[in-house]
Amino acid sequence: MEITIDSIDNIREAARQFVSSMGEASVFAFYGSMGAGKTTFIKAVCEELGVEDVITSPTFAIVNEYRAEETGELIYHFDFYRIKKLEEVYDMGYEDYFYSGALCFIEWPELIEELLPTDAVRVRIEETEGGKRIVKSGE
Ligand SMILES: Nc1ncnc2c1ncn2[C@@H]1O[C@H](COP(=O)(O)OP(=O)(O)OP(=O)(O)O)[C@@H](O)[C@H]1O
Ligand SMILES: [Mg+2]
Repeated sequence: MEITIDSIDNIREAARQFVSSMGEASVFAFYGSMGAGKTTFIKAVCEELGVEDVITSPTFAIVNEYRAEETGELIYHFDFYRIKKLEEVYDMGYEDYFYSGALCFIEWPELIEELLPTDAVRVRIEETEGGKRIVKSGE
């Protein structure tokens, strides 16, 4: 799957396309350099899934929890950027999230690579020179 987001105005449509390609998977690892657009895209995907609360990057917590209003389903959004030791990830009880069956969207998965479930879907977000974003998975 490859989605090009020409401008921020198209992000909703891109998120819709992404959601329709999600299938049965629950853990999605978003790779991409700083400022690539991971938080912005995850936010759009969560909105598409019916999350109504204001979504921000989990700057202070490792994980933020959202609820899709219609289905009542929980969605977890992780940002491992500030992780210094894997111990912090064990201590937060990552397994209870990753293996809960709930949707998990992960920023900076490279920092916890060895803890990712084997069936996690790897998604890559790149910014082009012109400021477009390319979202790819399934390679
Ligand atoms: N599809 C897009 N089109 C245009 N601008 C975007 C797009 N996605 C994100 N941006 C802009 O790029 C900047 C960085 O976005 P964002 O915070 O989502 O990146 P990030 O990958 O989460 O970064 P970090 O690694 O720091 O968490 C923001 O100013 C945001 O508005
Ligand atoms: Mg971010």
